[in-house]
Amino acid sequence: MINIGVLVSGRGSNLQAIIDSIENSEIENAQIKIVISDVRDAFALNRAENHSIDSMYIDPNNFLDKLEYEKKLVNILKKYDIELVLLAGYMRILSSYFVNEYKWKILNIHPALLPSFPGLHGQRQALEYGVKVSGATVHFVDEKCDSGPIIIQKCVKVKEDDSEDTLAARILEKEHKIFPTAVDLFVRDKLKIEGRRVQILD
Ligand code: GRF
Repeated sequence: MINIGVLVSGRGSNLQAIIDSIENSEIENAQIKIVISDVRDAFALNRAENHSIDSMYIDPNNFLDKLEYEKKLVNILKKYDIELVLLAGYMRILSSYFVNEYKWKILNIHPALLPSFPGLHGQRQALEYGVKVSGATVHFVDEKCDSGPIIIQKCVKVKEDDSEDTLAARILEKEHKIFPTAVDLFVRDKLKIEGRRVQILD
């Protein structure tokens, strides 16, 4: 059984997709042990509660600096014996301290086809740039923003009349598919990192 910890900042629809995949056994041998938010009223916390998953709000402003804050997070994750950390709409960049504590055990979901449009508002960036195809990416987390080895990507066509919201909604549907799939692959030990490339073993 792999213990999963999830970091969130908001709505938590990706968290919900993982919860659902575990509950309906699309992901086996894994459980979410703790959900941690850096935002007090993040709806993701309600979702955790609704499924009897431990959850907590940790206020980053209560710490001297980022390192102290991250030490607190790592401390909690270690207490819960977490072996896989998911960034599910967590809006902070992890420092190398945190990344090294969970080297190649942190996955992130991003609403664009990386390496295009990293950082905030991937969907808006794609629209403004004028690309005809965008999508979603799940990747391992390294110390740079949205830059680690890519596990899965799914494409979405940009429509002529797309707004940021309509494009984001279609990308989100893909996110909810590929994030659980990537978690399942991780849990079944099917991901092999070779440099920047992630080989999916069968
Ligand atoms: C998603 O679009 C995700 O790709 C990005 O932040 C958003 C979080 O949405 N990193 P939710 O909180 O999972 O609903």
